[in-house]
Amino acid sequence: MKNLTTLLGGLTAEQFLGDYWQKKPLLIRQAIPNFNGLLSRDELINLACEDDAQARLIKQQRNRFSLQNAPFFAEDFEHLEKSKWTVLVQGLNHHLASGAELLKQFNFIPHARLDDLMVSFAPKGGGVGPHFDSYDVFLLQGVGHRRWQISAQADRTLIEGAPLRILSDFKVEQEWLLAPGDMLYLPPHYAHNGIAEDDCMTYSIGFRTPAYQELAEQFLVYLQDTVCADGMYADPELTVQKHPAEIGAQMLAKVTQKLNEIRWDEDDVAQFLGCYLSEPKAHIFFDAPTRAIKRDKFTQALATQGITLNLKTQMLCHAGSIFINGEAIPCEASDYKILRELADHRQLGAKDNYSATLLDLIFEWYSNGFLQLNVKEKNHGKPAN
Ligand code: SIN
Ligand code: CO
Repeated sequence: MKNLTTLLGGLTAEQFLGDYWQKKPLLIRQAIPNFNGLLSRDELINLACEDDAQARLIKQQRNRFSLQNAPFFAEDFEHLEKSKWTVLVQGLNHHLASGAELLKQFNFIPHARLDDLMVSFAPKGGGVGPHFDSYDVFLLQGVGHRRWQISAQADRTLIEGAPLRILSDFKVEQEWLLAPGDMLYLPPHYAHNGIAEDDCMTYSIGFRTPAYQELAEQFLVYLQDTVCADGMYADPELTVQKHPAEIGAQMLAKVTQKLNEIRWDEDDVAQFLGCYLSEPKAHIFFDAPTRAIKRDKFTQALATQGITLNLKTQMLCHAGSIFINGEAIPCEASDYKILRELADHRQLGAKDNYSATLLDLIFEWYSNGFLQLNVKEKNHGKPAN
């Protein structure tokens, strides 16, 4: 596997996964040399004010934190000088192509683990307080500087009644000052506190670790649609019960036996995981292209321009099945190979060897806004409608 040169501080992806991933923190100086961030403070505030932004504004006055959630208006960010504050926007990769590009550098971790790219801005002194996340996270420093304090402490007691999850007794064990391009990897549940030293933007590349309880509950929801239990309850051998209100032993045994016949295998689990993990978050919607072209023109354009997934599209695959935005699609082996390439790289170059089924599928995804045609070469392959 390729050596990621600077991103992992000279480690290969295998070395990083073997020695650090889910095990211990890693500080990487100049993980992305010359990284200056993807947007300015004002662009971030404008983004936080957009209708579909998942944004939070946290203010800190005399050691007390307050939290405000989106929707935001420009006025919310005026007159903040007196407090220490920070604004955080989730899903930057759904808003900026450069955000999705940044995530591609983390392709050594499976897409099924990816949550999103979050960005924060804070002036000097701002931060979200000492806490832990149930995520693996790479904290990449954009403009400005942030002091990161971390601790392997087992005490995860939170301050009661606080609007944010703040550790009540944070004991700093290690501390570093991060400059633009530096990055800190933290495994889940590692206590941390980031304090802005000046106007500071931090990019969090977050990887979800779903709780088994959540997966189990959702798997049962999935099974609801696939379960097949034949026949109807029958009791020709019914005998008189002393207490008619009691659920009889025979009924209990018969239904238990029937329910025990419900079976699932790894294929069901793969179908469930593909649908569940590619399901967009509740606030995400797709819009049809504003000036959609007809099917024959689209086919011609595919052969000269290629396609790119919409920034909001989530696509996974497994053993002949493609999962796109929560839907499962079984495919022929040759179509699967092409779609897996699309899922891996989020784009496909110009091609004219699509099967009719695949053309139908790709045109359908184009029509409902799951992907776009790339604009012609002279515009450097940026996606268009
Ligand atoms: C931040 O960017 O201020 C917070 C990131 C984190 O602690 O997870
Ligand atoms: Co955190």
